[in-house]
Amino acid sequence: MNLEGKVALITGGSRGIGKAIAFKLAELGADIAINYSNNKERADKVVEEIKSMGRDAISIKGNVAKMEEAKDIVKKTKDKYDRIDILVNNAGITRDNLLMRMKEKEWDAVMDVNLKGTFNMSKSIIRSMLKQKNCSIINIASVVGISGNAGQCNYSASKAGIIGFTKSLAKEVAKKNVRVNAVAPGFIKTDMTDELPDKVKDEYINSIPLNRLGTPEDVANTVAFLASDLSEYLTGQVLTVDGGMAI
Ligand code: NAI
Repeated sequence: MNLEGKVALITGGSRGIGKAIAFKLAELGADIAINYSNNKERADKVVEEIKSMGRDAISIKGNVAKMEEAKDIVKKTKDKYDRIDILVNNAGITRDNLLMRMKEKEWDAVMDVNLKGTFNMSKSIIRSMLKQKNCSIINIASVVGISGNAGQCNYSASKAGIIGFTKSLAKEVAKKNVRVNAVAPGFIKTDMTDELPDKVKDEYINSIPLNRLGTPEDVANTVAFLASDLSEYLTGQVLTVDGGMAI
């Protein structure tokens, strides 16, 4: 896989899965723009590390849930590199609760970041990708967007929405060779999942045929494939990276 000469923009790229994606795409030769929401220091550390790998990188603050900020993230990336070949919509949050107890603001927050954020970023970039041609958008969904999960009506709905969005946009832009795919991770070991009690984690591991939690690198490898020409005949697909959990 070779991404030399390409520019990738990754939302929520300063930690967890987004950070692993940034490193993987840089390792394959891409220059990287990482968006972050708050922690500039952490984002700049990722930028420095990518630069030490011999690639260029910038960090851009912005809340993907706000259209104006999404536009600004795309503009700053284009101002710097004059092109964007790969967009990874990775930024995401959880606000878990049983529906009975779920507050409206917990529903709204998750939909705003996960689903509307994906819309905002894709809408802000699509015109330039259609003009440029040969680009790839990769949306980070989740297996729970396919199978559902108790306590995650908001999160599962947002991720199922991302899958529908992915397939529809793929049909709209395929003629210009802009490909749109989703990755649906299973249980991946990150700060997001570290918050769960050990008992819950053990239950998950027992339900995973490959018998371990996934790593951010497992997801990053699949994103790299979807970003590269090796997947040039794939669009509108959802690749599940879950150790067989959803079989
Ligand atoms: P994380 O919490 O470590 O990283 C999420 C990133 O998104 C953080 O850098 C955060 O600052 C950023 N972010 C949050 N709200 C934002 C906003 N409004 N604007 C810009 N950035 C924002 O979580 P993790 O685990 O790395 O998750 C990454 C993606 O993978 C998310 O979309 C998540 O839903 C998805 N995912 C994670 C799984 C897991 O097991 N960890 C499983 C399935 C999907």
